[in-house]
Amino acid sequence: MTVLVTGGAGYIGSHTVVELLNAGHETIIVDDLSNAKLDVIDRIETITGKRPAFYQFDAADKERLRDVFANHKIDAAIHFAAFKAVGESVRKPLQYYRNNIDSALTLLEVMEEFGCKKLVFSSSATVYGPNNPHPYKEEMPAIQSSSPYGWTKVMIERILTDYVTAHPDFCAILLRYFNPIGAHESGLLGDDPNGIPNNLMPYICRVAAGQLEKLTIFGGDYPTPDGTCQRDYLHVVDLAVGHLKALEYAENHNGVEAINLGTGNGISVLELVTAFEKANNIKLPYVIGPRRDGDLPAFWADAEKARNLLGWEASHSVKDMCRSSWLFAKGGTPESSFS
Ligand code: UFG
Repeated sequence: MTVLVTGGAGYIGSHTVVELLNAGHETIIVDDLSNAKLDVIDRIETITGKRPAFYQFDAADKERLRDVFANHKIDAAIHFAAFKAVGESVRKPLQYYRNNIDSALTLLEVMEEFGCKKLVFSSSATVYGPNNPHPYKEEMPAIQSSSPYGWTKVMIERILTDYVTAHPDFCAILLRYFNPIGAHESGLLGDDPNGIPNNLMPYICRVAAGQLEKLTIFGGDYPTPDGTCQRDYLHVVDLAVGHLKALEYAENHNGVEAINLGTGNGISVLELVTAFEKANNIKLPYVIGPRRDGDLPAFWADAEKARNLLGWEASHSVKDMCRSSWLFAKGGTPESSFS
């Protein structure tokens, strides 16, 4: 297939492009590099031996997106391009609604114009909101979130669902990610946020590298076994493979399907810190601080639907996630970190 990947230079996008190229798909990236670096394209080529077509512009730029569809016979799209910082979205809601909703609508309109009927959308477990019990199942109400970022995911899921109702020959797969961490085993691709990281693993890596003094664990008094929050951390390469499986499914189906991509296991912040220390033989300075606003005590995926529908399940261990994250963060070679 020829696959358009918006946001294909980003953390999850770049790993997905590697899997697409390795599986023999022609791949076209549209990314404005607002939260990614140009050398990611070279790194993808180093890993796969193939260079994806790359266009640097905002996916909401309709004219330029039209040109890309006019120049390539695109069979399917995977839509990652979006702002994704939860805290920032609370401070800048208009930017988040404008950017995330606009790019999704623009892509859909251009797809319609060019008769492209297969879309995999980058959604999030945040759509389950604060009221569902875990493990989260796809049939639970997914109509609420706790930040403007999260609400953009809820809204785009709604838009796609309504679009499929009006166009039953379209296929939209809504992939609800849990907490992706880890990096490509080459050490060439990984999560490299600008500024001080918000997410746990990039923060841990900066502390391990001595760039930040210590980790603050947000809350030690949650109703969980060790008092720290539990999440479903999954390896980004497993997540990338999930996109490939979703695309293969979409090739032969119509309609809308929401699918969780998670391991089905909850791990606490403290357990992840300990696993990182053990996997990399590093002592991580940390303190237990106050709770962070908006954090839920615990959630993880029910991973059955992905297994049944896509034949997908996560295969990397927490140790793999910790080792590969650190390998990427320190810019090392696989030989020095993998045994
Ligand atoms: N945490 C710390 N210290 C830090 C950073 C995080 O203790 O410095 C804790 C958080 O409190 C939380 C856990 O680590 O308990 C994971 O936090 P992340 O910020 O890495 O991830 P979240 O679960 O908060 O956010 C993720 C995704 C969002 C998504 C959200 C809700 O990053 O895209 O889940 O589904 F919206």
